[in-house]
Amino acid sequence: MRKAMAEAEVGDDGFGDDPTVRRLEERVAETLGKEAAVFVPSGTMGNQVAIRVLTSPGDEVVVEAESHTVLYELAGPAVISGVQLRPVPGEGGVLAPDAVEAAFRPADAHAPPTSLLVVENTHTVAGGRIVPLERFRALVGVARRRGARVHLDGARLWNAEAATGVPAREWAALADTAMVSMSKGLGAPVGSLLAGSRETIAAARRVRKMLGGGMRQAGVLAAAALVGLERNRPRLGEDHARARRLAAGLADVAGCRADPGAVETNIVLARTATGAAPGVVQGLAARGVLAVPMGPETVRFVTHVDVGDVDVERAIAEARDTARR
Ligand SMILES: Cc1ncc(COP(=O)(O)O)c(C=O)c1O
Repeated sequence: MRKAMAEAEVGDDGFGDDPTVRRLEERVAETLGKEAAVFVPSGTMGNQVAIRVLTSPGDEVVVEAESHTVLYELAGPAVISGVQLRPVPGEGGVLAPDAVEAAFRPADAHAPPTSLLVVENTHTVAGGRIVPLERFRALVGVARRRGARVHLDGARLWNAEAATGVPAREWAALADTAMVSMSKGLGAPVGSLLAGSRETIAAARRVRKMLGGGMRQAGVLAAAALVGLERNRPRLGEDHARARRLAAGLADVAGCRADPGAVETNIVLARTATGAAPGVVQGLAARGVLAVPMGPETVRFVTHVDVGDVDVERAIAEARDTARR
């Protein structure tokens, strides 16, 4: 990947003439079955650009209550797009069509128009849970009946594809816009893409520029993303198998609850005693095992291209050792 970055043919993407960025945008658009795609520096920017182009100020956006857009995007939709979020709790991150239907506002003078549904797949906080294609279709059906648009936060859509065998384009086809990240399971250092119709992506380019996301010789980054797409996308199943092995190993650690049956992709959520998670994460970090606390009792582990079988066994052994102390 570093070699591909060093050797990348570049131009000025500000003028739309970086050949490697263009190749990446075309490849991703084609992979997702969309007319066009735009390279953005981060998944957060991809989501924010999508919300901005698919809504008008004063609108309301229905979104799962623990989704990245609600929890970790710093009220961006309110600041950047002037819209209000309507968070709806899902079951394990997966929205129910009835609940979404109920969240849509009546079309009258007392309520903001609900103009957008955002669906996250896979769902991060729920532990990499997949929104199955049929469920997504039903959710999109509700939005369409109510005249709303749909944005797919597919930061980890590649993982949903690898786990189910359903091509990413099947999900993307149902949505107006789909954001996919190259900097997560695909292992690139930077970058996400937003895909949609030619018209929508032309509007997205203007918003990207407004947000300061226009880049210059970005081909060095696009080259890494292309390697991720070509070389690392086909191997995501290995990460999923290692995540299941990690969960099985952690399930045997005293004071730790982990369920390999709940692992659908590359994220493992291990429960500790309430309040213990930050200390556990610190203890593991001191032993070279990096995880993230998610609340007072949950530790999140993620497998990826740089984590091999030996690393998984080591993480389990270190967790066991930490628990004994
Ligand atoms: C589901 C989801 N969407 C969006 C993002 C944002 O991506 P980035 O960190 O590239 O801004 C993340 C990051 O973890 C995510 O998990």
